[in-house]
Amino acid sequence: MDTSVAPETAATLDPADWQSFRAQGHRMLDDIVDYLEHIRDRPVWQPIPETVRDRFRLPIPTAPSELAAVHDEFMQHILPFAVGNAHPGFMGWVHGGGNPAGMLAEMLAAGLNANLGGRDQVPIEVERQVVQWVRQLFGFPETASGLFVTGTSMANLIGVLVARTAALGAGVRRRGVAAGGKQLIAYASAAAHGCISQAMDLSGLGSAALRIVPTDERHRIDLAALENAIAADRRRGFSPFLVVGNAGTVDIGAIDDLAALSELTDREGLWLHVDGAFGALAILAPDLAPRLAGLDRADSLAFDFHKWGQVPYDAGFILVRDGTLHRETFAAPAAYLRRETRGLAAGSPWPCDFGPDLSRGFRALKTWFTLRVHGTDAIGATISRSCALAGYLAGRIAETPELELLAPVELNIVCFGYRSADADRINARIVADLHESGIVAPSTTTIGGRLAVRAAIVNHRTQARDIDALVEATLAFGRARVSSLAA
Ligand SMILES: Cc1ncc(COP(=O)(O)O)c(C=O)c1O
Repeated sequence: MDTSVAPETAATLDPADWQSFRAQGHRMLDDIVDYLEHIRDRPVWQPIPETVRDRFRLPIPTAPSELAAVHDEFMQHILPFAVGNAHPGFMGWVHGGGNPAGMLAEMLAAGLNANLGGRDQVPIEVERQVVQWVRQLFGFPETASGLFVTGTSMANLIGVLVARTAALGAGVRRRGVAAGGKQLIAYASAAAHGCISQAMDLSGLGSAALRIVPTDERHRIDLAALENAIAADRRRGFSPFLVVGNAGTVDIGAIDDLAALSELTDREGLWLHVDGAFGALAILAPDLAPRLAGLDRADSLAFDFHKWGQVPYDAGFILVRDGTLHRETFAAPAAYLRRETRGLAAGSPWPCDFGPDLSRGFRALKTWFTLRVHGTDAIGATISRSCALAGYLAGRIAETPELELLAPVELNIVCFGYRSADADRINARIVADLHESGIVAPSTTTIGGRLAVRAAIVNHRTQARDIDALVEATLAFGRARVSSLAA
């Protein structure tokens, strides 16, 4: 056996020259701060040339490159071709804009390279502090548990799994869902996000065990239809166990009547999970918070700090009223994760006892920095303002005969269309034209069978002039598309 080792300097990945590394680091920081400071001067998005894509099809490097050269590659070929959700003209899907303080916190977290699966460390105390703030924000008891996860899709899955434990007991983890002979049934409205159905699939309950309940004209769950569906399932011998309510639907931002929903689930003995991906943080806006009445009675709540909370991606969160049940759903003994009362292995329970991830990054730090630096009043004010901007856009649509509103404006999302004989085709093209123009970037959805241009105002940087730009550019592209089709 060869017992020699490489010379010390060659053995690590640290820079040989810390001084030049530091100077390069400062240049990188300057470049990304310049990007944020002058983001308005850039296109929201631009098409990706094939030559650029080709650069990302090269084989894995075996030899080193200069950090400066790799950074240059980032500046030239990655940064200009990102989605652009930090840009004030970005209005597609539901993307937050991030914030510079959160970005710096992410750099610090990477430097610390903390793993928040467990162990006795202050980074976990930071996460526990955010959990405590979240409990207080949503009026949950001290015994409630919380956990950072990737996003609301994962948080909703955890919500469904804890509800499954509540219905079948923790033994379901060993025996599987079929063992008890019960067919568990969940309910969500037709406006629920697709990840709810996926959560049913991933939890082994099956997406067919999710009943899709119709909505009213404001896209809120129809409570009478829900009650009827539950009764019908009971008559057939099924076991209703879960209702998923919405605090901000993905299409139009509708908020279910959560107070009535919680009364219904109490009466029926069902778990109430709320998908508040973006809408839950409306709790920070005094003018909107009353719309969330009843949320404090949910059994579990999923939401994202990376949407309306403006924390850089990713920072999803799950809050569970019954922390014991939450822990019983995930905690598993393992010799190599043994807990102690002193030393690094102290501090049980650990975050890994509340979710499927053992290795976990320090998402809490960028959230904690964002909350500490800006305070909840400022974040609440940006949330109110994005709803006011949505109202402004609805007003501009109402006064423009070529445009029509396709859904009620409940929160911060406006679904509209350019009127024409071939509206679906024209509006799809208008949205692609808008993207390629780099002026603004809405997305599309289908409302009542019709394709809608969908503008979700989430970014704290968006201003009335961006709404004006959206209206003017939609009209310009709409007119051009209609006349080119006529020709
Ligand atoms: C209502 C709703 N639920 C769930 C999700 C999924 O969240 P995430 O993308 O963070 O997984 C979204 C995403 O936009 C959403 O709007």
